[in-house]
Parts: sequence; structure tokens; C-alpha cells
Amino acid sequence: MKAQELVDTANRMVADDKGLLAMDESNPTCNKRFAKLGIPQTVEARRAYRELIVTTPNLGECISGVILYDETIRQQKKDGTPFVKVITDAGIIPGIKVDAGAKDLAGHPGEKVTEGLDGLRERLAEYSQMGARFAKWRAVIAVGDGIPSRGCIEANAQALARYAALCQEAGLVPVVEPEVLMDGDHPLERCSEVTEQVLRAVFKQLYTQRVMLEGMILKPNMVLPGSTCPKQESVDEVADATVRCLLRAVPAAVPGVAFLSGGQSGELASAHLNAMNVRFKSRMPWGLAFSFARAIQQPALEIWRGEDAHVLAAQQALLHRARCNRAARRGEYSGAMEEKAAITVGN
Ligand code: 13P
Repeated sequence: MKAQELVDTANRMVADDKGLLAMDESNPTCNKRFAKLGIPQTVEARRAYRELIVTTPNLGECISGVILYDETIRQQKKDGTPFVKVITDAGIIPGIKVDAGAKDLAGHPGEKVTEGLDGLRERLAEYSQMGARFAKWRAVIAVGDGIPSRGCIEANAQALARYAALCQEAGLVPVVEPEVLMDGDHPLERCSEVTEQVLRAVFKQLYTQRVMLEGMILKPNMVLPGSTCPKQESVDEVADATVRCLLRAVPAAVPGVAFLSGGQSGELASAHLNAMNVRFKSRMPWGLAFSFARAIQQPALEIWRGEDAHVLAAQQALLHRARCNRAARRGEYSGAMEEKAAITVGN
């Protein structure tokens, strides 16, 4: 029964060409983004911003699930309606980030391991009671001279697998996120090699920890050149490299691959996802979807800047990026969608 529910939820998360909206920035990360735009770094400002997101009209047309943070899942609209109710009423599945962040890995300078397994069973039970139906855990893997190390990859892969097993025990679909970072001047081939190595290690551990692949979602990075690499491949080349890597390392039983955006602009993230679907969709065993934070939220945040008067325009910008990404899942995204939106906002 529980297994079937997990499979049903995982399939709903990637059905109808929709995707996930990550709005689970920890308080320090959210505050950092607010500070850059001169927005006060207060509980109330964070609440108001999250209210803006979850009350965006028609968001459920493009978004199947939203990922919340511990503070947010406990918050309400100004009128007292719990966010979880607003989200569920919009036909969107509530999810929750459950890791406790990436911490320095002892003995491995420059590398991190994600913590948060202690007490996780109890926290998952509470979140499930609050209405969450899926969870997220992010591991970060840096690329550089001599890194990632085997120690870093294995420690993170094992933590992801233990988290995923606990989620399934609690009836929550685990979103398994091993993020190979874009930072650095390494070429695309290096990102490809590291991403394949990491994904193989993660699936080996998922198997060892008896995680049911049909009841999970993979949230990987796209295969990209380092952000300061002088050679930046074309959109089609990135799409080819990403799909090649996934086909080598991701079992066909997984229902969906929902990419993180990792610091790409909204337009580029949509273009990459679109190219993958144009070129490969009919031949892929899993849905190629999105689970973006910055690539959906950033323009909206820049418009809002903490001002009530900007809420509607910010919501329009958010919905626009969500629509672009749904179109990208269908292979129907184009630069014309951006121009049309610019004209509408200009008017
Ligand atoms: P970005 O899309 O901004 O990379 O964030 C996705 C996410 O949820 C990171 O954990």
C-alpha cells in the first residue's frame, strides 16, 4: 500500500510536463539573497515572500510540487491560512527539505558532507503529519585539483541513500540531489566524468540501502563546463552530454529526473531542458523535468524587492518562468516566449 502510494506520488511529481519549484532556501541563504537586493532579513519578510510565491495565480498549471523549508512549512498567509493548505488547494504537492546543510568533511580540505540523519525518522513523521508528501536532501560535490575524492563521494552517496530509505519508510518520496557544482574553470568533459562517477556511487548505495527506485526522483545537475572555463559549449552540446551521462548511470526504473539549475540564468536553464526534450524525449526511460529554485524565482525576487506594490508583477514573472519550463519539457520553449513576456511586462 505504502509502496504504491510512493510510486503514485513520484509519478504525479513529473506528470503532465510539470515540474518542481524549489523554495526551500535555508534562512541564511534566503537572507543572503534578500541582502543583495536591500530586502530586510526578517521572519516577516521571508514569510511575505513565500506568500507571494504560493499565492501566484495558476501556478498549479506548471508546477506539480513545491519544496518548503522547516520555517515555511509552519507558516501561514497573512489571513491565517496555512501555506500547506494554500498549496494543496492549488493542486500542488507540498514537499520539504530535510537535510541540515553541507559541512566541512574531516580530512578532506575543500570538500563537504551533508548532515541531518540524526533524528530524521522523527522529523519525517512530523512533516508527513503536516502534509508533506515528498522530501529533499542535497549533497554538494566540488570539482577542483584532485577533488572530488573517493571519501567525499562515498560519504555523500551513503547519506543520500540512508535518507532516501528513511523517507520511503515514512511514506515520503525522496528527491535525491547529488549536485556537482558549476564553480571552477574545468571543462565540460570533467563535469561529465565526475557526474557519472557520482551518480554511479549514489545508485550503488541506493541499491544497498534497499531504496525502491520507482518511488524516488533524481535531482541532478546538468553536465556543464565550469562557470569560468573559457570554452562554453552550445546548448545542444550540453543537452547531448547531459543525456549521455544520465543514460550511463541512471536506472530506467526511476520515474523522473528533475534538474537543479545550479546558478544558470533562467533562460539558459530553460533552453538546456528544452534541447534535451527536443532531441531525446521520445527515447528516454524517465521524464526530463525541472526542480529549479533560482532559475524560476530570481526575476520575481528582483521585481518584488520587499514592496507590496510589486507583488502582482513579481507573480507574473514567476509564472512566466514556470510556463517557460513547462514548455521546455514539451520541447516547445523558444526565445520568442521571452520576447512576448517582455512586451507584456513593458505594457
Ligand atoms: P537551484 O535551481 O537554484 O540550483 O536550486 C535548486 C535546489 O533546490 C538546490 O538545492
